[in-house]
Amino acid sequence: MHAPVLHAPRAVAADTSLIASWLPLPGLGLIPCNSFVIRSAQPVLVDTGVAGLRGDFLAALGEAVDPADLRWIWIPHMDADHIGNLAAVLELAPKARVVTNYLGMGKMGLLGLPQDRAYLLNPGQALDVGDRKLRALRPPSWDAPETTALFDERTRAFFCVDAFGAIHQEPSESAAAIPAGSLAEGMALWTSVDQHWLGRVDRSKFDRALGEVDALRPDVILGSHLPPASGITQRLLRSLRDSADVPAFVGPDQAALEAMMSA
Ligand SMILES: [Fe+2]
Ligand SMILES: [Fe+2]
Repeated sequence: MHAPVLHAPRAVAADTSLIASWLPLPGLGLIPCNSFVIRSAQPVLVDTGVAGLRGDFLAALGEAVDPADLRWIWIPHMDADHIGNLAAVLELAPKARVVTNYLGMGKMGLLGLPQDRAYLLNPGQALDVGDRKLRALRPPSWDAPETTALFDERTRAFFCVDAFGAIHQEPSESAAAIPAGSLAEGMALWTSVDQHWLGRVDRSKFDRALGEVDALRPDVILGSHLPPASGITQRLLRSLRDSADVPAFVGPDQAALEAMMSA
């Protein structure tokens, strides 16, 4: 696969659709980049995809929900792969507020995004969306300090953001369908690229953070960079723990890049 692709929305939990895109990472593999629509009484969009797929993303969003009905756009952090279409969606969704926190709102300002649309929610607080509460949590690992995961108390879906991400060798619709060794390798590679600070943390404190995910007893783990994962929570926790031991990824330097480009 040499070009990014975006798939039509599909159900991954009750009232919950996934809009998945797959992006090539030259020399490494593929990374999924997921957004979700929760059709709660007050509809929620979680993440807005990448800018390079804007037309496809907005079409898929329109299949999952009328954007004009959206009340919340939950942005777990302000990285480019999560806010690529935020400005476009805000124009289509005049009733929607952007769920973030104080740091995230600050970054919205730096990016020229409308801070007056922000709605601040901290880990430990919950968002009432009419027929359920969405709990804001700190995930066990992240790549931006404002990162806030969420737990849907009704579907028991845990939206874990960049934690439990994996680099893949081919697209997949289910994390459980990926051979265990391949998934563990892909998680280790992703973590060494994106969250290599994990190697520096106190292991007992990290274990406590992993234990908090275990205690949630999620029915499905919905990551930004992992296909939906059901029934493999213990395996994912072990793989993320093991990933902390992998040395930080170092990409090609300029000379290596030029050699790759001319090959
Ligand atoms: Fe990120
Ligand atoms: Fe991400």
